[in-house]
Formats: sequence, structure tokens, C-alpha cells
Amino acid sequence: MDFKLEIAKQLSVASELPVEEILFMLEVPANKEMGDFAFPCFKLAKTLRKAPPMIANDIKEKLVIGDAIREINVVGAYINFFVNQGNFTESVLTKVLAEGTAYGHSTLGAGKAVVVDYSSPNIAKPFHVGHLRSTVIGNAICKIHQALGYTVEGVNHLGDWGTQFGKLIVAYKLWGSKEAVETGGIQELMRIYVLFHDAAKEKDELNDEARGWFVKMQDGDEEALTLWKWFYDISIKEFDRVYEMLGVKFDAYTGESFYNDKMAPVVEELKEKNILKESEGAMIVDLEDKNMPPCLIIRKDGGTLYATRDITAALYRKKTYDFVKCIYLTALDQNLHFAQWFEVINRMGYDWYKDLVHVPFGLVSLESGKLSTRQGNVILMEDLLNQAIAETGKIIEEKNPNLENKEEIAKQVGIGAVIFNDLYNGRIKDVVFSWERMLNFDGETGPYVQYTHARACSILKKAGDVSFADVDYSLISDEASMDVCKLLADFPVKLEDAARKYEPSIVTRHMVAISQAFNKFYHDNPILNSEDDVKLARLAVVVATKTVLKEGLRILGINAPEQM
Ligand code: ARG
Repeated sequence: MDFKLEIAKQLSVASELPVEEILFMLEVPANKEMGDFAFPCFKLAKTLRKAPPMIANDIKEKLVIGDAIREINVVGAYINFFVNQGNFTESVLTKVLAEGTAYGHSTLGAGKAVVVDYSSPNIAKPFHVGHLRSTVIGNAICKIHQALGYTVEGVNHLGDWGTQFGKLIVAYKLWGSKEAVETGGIQELMRIYVLFHDAAKEKDELNDEARGWFVKMQDGDEEALTLWKWFYDISIKEFDRVYEMLGVKFDAYTGESFYNDKMAPVVEELKEKNILKESEGAMIVDLEDKNMPPCLIIRKDGGTLYATRDITAALYRKKTYDFVKCIYLTALDQNLHFAQWFEVINRMGYDWYKDLVHVPFGLVSLESGKLSTRQGNVILMEDLLNQAIAETGKIIEEKNPNLENKEEIAKQVGIGAVIFNDLYNGRIKDVVFSWERMLNFDGETGPYVQYTHARACSILKKAGDVSFADVDYSLISDEASMDVCKLLADFPVKLEDAARKYEPSIVTRHMVAISQAFNKFYHDNPILNSEDDVKLARLAVVVATKTVLKEGLRILGINAPEQM
């Protein structure tokens, strides 16, 4: 029996709200005396036109006590539920034990496709920490949807097309050499790109020249494309090293260049539908009535733009994947870009424009200040991850110098710490990098959750082979065990909530809550030294916790080592 569902079903009949809605509204009160679950009635006041405490009382009258719920009372605007503890822990733990790491998964998204457009760094520019956020949040959003049964298409929409490559070609011809680019890689490409920028400030002809080269690229000019492809390959090689470290894999690397030969028919369609307008030689979609600047589709020199490719890509994806959602992960500063071209899709008459979702996130900063590609203080992703591994290595050396497989674990914990730190706060908040905070084994961190998981593994290892066929769950009705079980019971709901809000931090925070509750349980209850039947029931809590922590971390893109 699923207790929360049981409560939600009853509430649904009594309140006429859908069960799914109620599941998200049910709370676990911090004060245990207020019950195991609580239902706030504030939201209903508007539709029912009654004071929330009155609504709470009316609903309560319609609820019944049974196997699941032993007591219901109303305090203020809340309806509080007290469950039958033995039945509750049994229902949760047997479910987790039976389902294993599939616990929490569902078929909600069966037969539905979701496209996640994430990471998407720009070729010939360093993969900096700003792209980390898109990669890490996007990867978690992919995995959350997969767990809910959706077919997920993770797309890396590489910034590999546009005038900047014309600039790079000019820069290469003026200041580059084959040897220097081969040895220096992206750093060298970046160096000559910056030279171009400085020089073009004085000499505007350089910009014309660069636009000329980009138009050549668009037209299939061999020299232009050979150089571009070379820059592309060099960049991908470096990006792949970072993806490998992060354990991220894409289903498609269809970047902006992929749409080069697909834009013309889309521009035609825009013309036919009378959406395009000429303005100073360029082709635009006027968005004044939406209080937005125009969406530029074709430059006056014939060059296409970022938005032209995004519109084309959306049409292509709809046709190819028939998505129910196409999710875009970028920093907040691209809000206007997405709002503009989503509106263009709307004007084209496609009602699926409402399934295009821009999911923005905040900036990343070091304690010492903002990170940026333009200033000198670029922090490269690869350096940052290597530093995380090195710092973790030092901690392991101090805490557990005899640990087997130290290097691999330093890698899993160091990288896990970076990912966790990024996913811990609501995505719209800025992320601050503080090694001390993010590697704190006792804080609200990746290492803390991983450590809790490893602790559970170590208890189970010591316990040896046990069978959970015959467990007396009434033996674990203490508060600490109950707290762990309540949080485990909430894991499936948290996954759904995280999916509908595009908010992995809901899962991240839940992992911390489970870890804290488990550590309290471990502290309060002797496990291996208790009576056999009590020991068995407590070990069931340990296995279930271990299972959910491992799966939660996996969904966040983080490894769960068994020892650390
Ligand atoms: N390449 C872009 C950047 O680094 C992000 C692309 C996001 N995806 C998209 N379909 N526009 O800013």
C-alpha cells in the first residue's frame, strides 16, 4: 500500500482536486507532533470562497481512518495525518527492496519523447564553467525524464556556425600557423580570435572580410570548410575529454552547422506565411506588438543567424522526434532570444510552440569574482575538475590513507562534489565555487551523500548475506526509522516534481535530507549488535536507503563508490 497515495486519494474525493496535485501539496511537518503528513488548505480558499480552517474541517469530516491512517486532526488551515507506523515502514521498505534501483521510476512518460538541448558550447572557444551548468543540469533533466519513462533525446546544439568562424579564418590567415594550432588547440584559436577582435576595432574592413568568409562557408566553399572542419575537430577533441570526466553522453551532436542546408525552406515558409519583413536590407520578424525587438532572420549580407538556426532546428526536431517537450538549457541572459523565436514559431501557426521550454539558470562565480571568457581569468572546465580531484585526493590521504583504489575514488568524489554543488540550489541562483564548502564531508554536499551511501554499504558488507523474506517491521516504529521511511516514500514524488519544474535541486536536496535522516537513525540505533529480528528490520532500512541514495545520485550524474 502506498500511504501517501492513500491519503491523496481520500483527499481527492473530499476536495475534488486531482490526486497528482495533492501529492505535490502534501507536506511532511517538521514538528512530528503535527503528524506524519499534512495537507495545507490555503490554496483552496480562492475557489471555495471560505476560510482555510473551515475548509480543513469540512474536508476532514469526509475522511476515514483505516489500516493506513490512525488519526486525523485539524490545526489551523492544516489537516494532519498520523499513519500506522508498522504498516507504513513495511509498505515503504518492502516496495524499495522489491523494486531495487527501479524504485521511483514510473511509466508517466511512456511513449512520449522529450528533447533536451544542453551543454552546447561554442567551437573554438574554451569549455568554461558557464557551460558546466548547462551540461550538469541538462544531464540531470535527461535522467529524471528517463526514470519517468520518457524517451529522451539529449542534443548538444554546438555553437559551430556563424560569423565568428569567418573571423577565425581571417585571424588564422593573418596570425596563425598550422603548427601553433596543432600544439596549442583551443587556447591558440582563442589567442588569434582575441587578436582579431582588437585589430577589428581599428580596422572595420576586417569585419567585412570575416563576413565574406562566413558567406563562403554557407555556400560550401572548400577552403573555408576545410579550415572550419579542422577547428571543429580540435574543439570536439577537447570537449570530449570534459564530457568523459563528467560521464555525460549525448544522443546527437547536431550543432548549428547541421542546419546550414535546412534553413532555406524555412525562410521560404516564413515568406509565404507573410511573417518576414524587410528592414534596412535585412529580413526580420517584427515583434513590436509583443514588446520585443525584432527577430533577425537574414542579415543584409545574406548571413543567417543564431535564431534562424534555432527556428530551423525546432522544426527539424518536431518532425524527427515528435517531442511533447523540447527543453533548452542556457544562462538567464538568453531569455529574450528564446522568447523571440518561440514567438516566431507561434506566428508560423504551430501550436506546439507552447511545448518549447527555455530553462534558464544563474551565473557561476568564484569566491574571488565573476568568471568570464572575455577577461583574462578564464577558468577552464578541465582544470577545475582536475583541481577538484586533487583536493579530494588530499582529503582522502588524510582521512583514509589505506583506501583501495584511491585515485578512482578521488575522481568520483571530486567530480561528484562539483556536480552536486551546481545542482544543490535552485538553478536560477548563482553558483559560487568554494572548495572548502563543496568538499566538506559533513556539509550539504556530494561527498556527504556519497559518504552516507558508503557507510550503508559498509554496514551491509559486515552483515554478510541476509534474507529479507521474513521481516517484522513493527520492530522499527521509532522516530528515526520513521523519518527515513517517510523520505524514501517521497522519492518518487520528488522525481516527478523535479521533472515538472525542471529543477534537479529538488532531487539533490532530497538526497541530503535522506542522508541526514539516515545518519540520525544510525546514531540512535545499534544495528549489527542488536537482537536478530531487530537487526534484520534495521538492515532493511539500510538496504533501502543505500538503494535510493545510489539511484538518486545516478540520476544527478554522480557516482556512488562503495568505499571512501
Ligand atoms: N552555444 C550557445 C552558447 O554557448 C548555447 C546554445 C543553446 N541552445 C540553443 N538551441 N540555442 O551560448
